[in-house]
Amino acid sequence: MKRFQCSCRGATIATVIAAALCLALPVLSKEEEFMPNQPDAIPSFLIIGTAKGGTTDLFAQLTAGVVNLDPDRPDPPFPMNQKLKEAGVLSRGGVSASEMLPQKPQYLEYLRLLSHPCGNVHRTLIPECLAANATKQLTLDATPTYYFSPVAPLYLRQLSTLSKIIMMIREPVQRAEVLYSHYVLTGGRWPDRSIDDLANDFLKAINTDTGVATALQRAADCSSGDVFCLANSWRDINGFTLMDTLENKIFAGGLYNYALAVWRYHYFRPGRLLVMDSHAYFDRRVDAMDKVIRFMYGRPMLPSEQTLAATGGVWRKVGVRVVPKLILSAPVRQQLSEFYEQHVMRGLFRMLSDMRDKEGAWMFGFNGEPWNECPGFREFNAAGKSKL
Ligand SMILES: *[C@@H]1O[C@H](CO)[C@@H](O)[C@H](O)[C@H]1NC(C)=O
Repeated sequence: MKRFQCSCRGATIATVIAAALCLALPVLSKEEEFMPNQPDAIPSFLIIGTAKGGTTDLFAQLTAGVVNLDPDRPDPPFPMNQKLKEAGVLSRGGVSASEMLPQKPQYLEYLRLLSHPCGNVHRTLIPECLAANATKQLTLDATPTYYFSPVAPLYLRQLSTLSKIIMMIREPVQRAEVLYSHYVLTGGRWPDRSIDDLANDFLKAINTDTGVATALQRAADCSSGDVFCLANSWRDINGFTLMDTLENKIFAGGLYNYALAVWRYHYFRPGRLLVMDSHAYFDRRVDAMDKVIRFMYGRPMLPSEQTLAATGGVWRKVGVRVVPKLILSAPVRQQLSEFYEQHVMRGLFRMLSDMRDKEGAWMFGFNGEPWNECPGFREFNAAGKSKL
């Protein structure tokens, strides 16, 4: 039944027509074209963000033994010995790009971190090993800090030009709040500083540091279709030391429109990017995984994938408990909302529309809360429907 999980929406007559269409056409609308995977891409797939947006759960859905070793699986498996979800190599910074060339130290380290079958062969034998092994194995890096690193897409280009990317977007105020809780509850960070303290410091810093304030304003003034302007602004913003601290990254990491511009400009290719709404992923994981599997492998879900997706809740730590320091007070929440309103929400649907309609990105979600008040929400979703 779930093999052709049709995403056509609509009521009454539309449903009948849509159902007929869905039977006739295998689901993919024009802009959601399956692209073949580059056999020697290092890695084959990346989940680049966002932290607390469902990346860990998605990683588990893709690599769990029941799906990865399913004998019915037509695709090469992921390495079963991969210890690490987050290789993190690409956002390290300070790496010379030439270190990412085949046979160079960073390249070899990355192969090992990905548990690539050629990770442990002598470097002189790498070409031979890749020729023999590259198509037998897929690799996956899920590092939720990559998307806001202005250098990660450039490093990735050194490694492979056709890796497929999944980006998950969560409402930025919520993201900051849950991420703060995550660091506090799992790492014992900031024993005597509340999220309000951190948010206030961040807002104060970006308003008083004239360099940062100017760069942010320039970013906000870019016309929303001007990817080059947005990408350069993000590069400039990241040059300021104030962007180096974890505290400030918690908040700056929500600036999706600027951060993704660097990826759009330097890396993304048609059919090789899937943008997922984290909220829709949390609420409708089976539908979400159906989309992910089509995007990655160009096929419907296997029964094992279907069962896994339908089982259990989405693996996410429920971060926000009722501890005052973990929760934004109403006035600070309001200030943060205004900040993101100006820098993210206002241009979000213009960005998503451009990525989907002009740049060939796949999309999932963004058709309900918490996005329904954003400018462009209705047009984006109406256009998405008519494409079917
Ligand atoms: C292919 O990978 C396997 C497993 O890691 C390795 O033992 C073998 O040497 C590789 N093949 C070549 C030709 O290097």
